[in-house]
Parts: sequence; C-alpha cells; structure tokens
Amino acid sequence: MTKLWKATGDDLELEELTEPARILREGGLIAFPTETVYGLGADARQTDAVNKIFMAKGRPSDNPLIVHIANRSQMAGLAAPPDETVSRLLDLFWPGPLTVVLPIKPGVLSPLVTAGLSTVGLRMPDHPVALQLLRAAGCPVAAPSANSSGRPSPTTAAHVYDDLAGRIDGIVDGGATGVGLESTVVEYTAPIGDGGGVLHILRPGGVSAEQLIMALPGIEVREASVHPDSSLAPRAPGMKYAHYAPRGAMTLVQGSAPEQVLARLQRELDQAHARGERTGVLTYREHADALRADTVVACGSLGDLESVAHGLYAALRQFDEAGADFIVAEACPESGIGAAIMNRLRKAAANRIIHV
Ligand code: TXA
Ligand code: MG
Repeated sequence: MTKLWKATGDDLELEELTEPARILREGGLIAFPTETVYGLGADARQTDAVNKIFMAKGRPSDNPLIVHIANRSQMAGLAAPPDETVSRLLDLFWPGPLTVVLPIKPGVLSPLVTAGLSTVGLRMPDHPVALQLLRAAGCPVAAPSANSSGRPSPTTAAHVYDDLAGRIDGIVDGGATGVGLESTVVEYTAPIGDGGGVLHILRPGGVSAEQLIMALPGIEVREASVHPDSSLAPRAPGMKYAHYAPRGAMTLVQGSAPEQVLARLQRELDQAHARGERTGVLTYREHADALRADTVVACGSLGDLESVAHGLYAALRQFDEAGADFIVAEACPESGIGAAIMNRLRKAAANRIIHV
C-alpha cells in the first residue's frame, strides 16, 4: 500500500511529516517533493532500503544515487571536506539545484548508493517539505527521481503515483515542483602541476553553466557532454542511459530560422498522419497556433526558458496520455537553463535530430 500525505500549506509543521520520516528511518521508501523533481528517498546508510529504490524504479545498479542532506554539518560525516572552490559553490547555490561530487568517507553509506565509486554526490534541496522531512528523518537520504527508470521525471505527486503506486511506502504531496528539471551535477578537480582547476559539469540542470562561470572567476568550467576529448571528461554514469522518453518515438527538429523549423515539423507530422499514426508536437506558446497535430503541447514560452523547464516533463507525459505514436519536438535556444532542456530533449529523442 502506498500512503499519501498532503504538505502544501505555507505553515508546514514538523509533526506533519513525523510518519513519513519514521518510515524512512525504518528502512521504507518515501517519495517527496524537491525544487527540481520528486525524489524517491531511502535511508542512505541501509543497504536493504537502498536496494528497494533500485527494485521499485527498475534502475540499473551501476547508476549511483544522490544523497540529500538538510544542513552542511551533515557533510563532514559523509565526504571529504570541500576545498575553497567547492565551498564557494555551496555558499552560493545551497540549498538549491546543485549536486557536488566529493570523495566519500568510507564505511557510512551503503555501497549501493555509490555503485562502487569512491565518490558521492551530495545535495541540499531548496524545498521546505524536503528540508523538513530530511530534518525529521535525521539521516542522509539517497533519492533518485521518483519515476520508473526511463520515464520522464515526476514533477507532481500524481506522476509519482502513476509510476510507482503499490511499489513504495508513501508519497508526500507538496504540489508541483518549481524548476522542473533535475539538479546540475558537478565535480571539481584541483590544479595539478601547471594546469588550472577544472569544474566538470557531469549533468546540466537547474544551475546553468553561465551561473557557474560567474561564480568561479579564473576556473575553467567544462561541460562533459560537449567536450571533444571524452577522456578528459568524467561523466555521471546515469548520462549513458536512455531517459525521459515518452512511449512514442520522438524526433527533435533544430535550426536557426523558425519558419523553416515550423515547416519541417509540419511536414513530418503530415507524413506520419498519412501513415495512419497518432501524432504529437512539442512546441512553445509562440508557435502552438502554427502547427496541426492530434496533440499540440505548448510547453512554456521561448521568451522564458524557466517556464519551459518547469513544464517539460509534464509535457512529455501528455503524449503518453494521448497515445501518441509519432512525436516531433521543436528545439529551444541553449543559453542558461536551455542547455539542460536541450540535454533532456536529445535524450527523449534518443538523439534522433533533424537539422534544417
Ligand atoms: O534534482 C535532482 O538531482 C533529483 C532530486 C530528487 O534531487 N535527483 C536525481 O537523481 O535526479 P537521479 O538518480 O535521477 O540522477 C542522479 C545523477 C545520475 O546521472 C548519476 O549518474 C549522477 O547523478 N551521480 C550520482 N552520484 C554520482 C557520483 N558519485 N559520480 C558521478 N555521478 C554521480
Ligand atoms: Mg532520474
């Protein structure tokens, strides 16, 4: 049985989360809201509990989990002390959508959390319900996104319920999440010899590369996914998996002239329609009226990429609800959070991209 708790009021009391916190401490699985997406939490110290996360999601066991904490004093027990550069990031972006990968302190966390790596990803979420739950539980909480593996990440409690009802102990409903995309995962490598320090973005997310560059003058910020020499780019193991995919096959259309992009989207849709397929298009408020398909989803506005990030995963799920077989998506600009949006769209499209 999956229990539901509502925690949407402004005046959240710690007692309201007593039961889900107790279930976490006792080795159960609780889904909870964060500012990015819903997480599926378990006590990160208990191997049986962490194992249940992998089972419930159908997640490959070589993909490590992010450990969530309520305050910085918890870090000392889990990882090597952050140096000056990482400390600066924590000062600026915690609590918030930034995960830092640090050398692990052995013997505390279940080895399943890190999938055998000698590092651990740590994050302090910026959400009152998440922070209250973490404080009430009093333990480090391993939490991947609370979706079935391969499905779009959940941004509402209903998405979690659709994917995991009956397979987890409970869901704390804190309403729709804010950012809508996962945290940015970074790893800093200190200067060696004559070289400078490098901050590697292992997964783009809620904190943009531009924000990180501004925060760390004089330090190279390297985006793993675009670096030409992949031997120089440590990766988040999770980035290799097909992710975020709607059930229908999706193709991304990208180009610098919007008229050409819209014309190509429509041509693909018309051809699929002629083949008898049920069609869907993911576009933006500005272009929704210009396109014809069985399902037209206007995902936020091109003038406000935050609104696109916020609605992206719900938009991808809409195509499944509509039973779309053939989906085309319009690319968005890659500045700011646009880089993370396009990263997710490429994955959702399994790299089927048409350049016009
Ligand atoms: O916003 C988020 O980060 C959400 C919420 C729930 O906090 N969590 C989330 O977790 O997205 P998950 O498991 O879906 O993604 C974790 C990502 C994966 O790509 C994983 O490979 C990477 O972080 N990761 C975790 N630990 C790592 C480590 N020690 N080294 C490199 N990558 C790591
Ligand atoms: Mg995930």
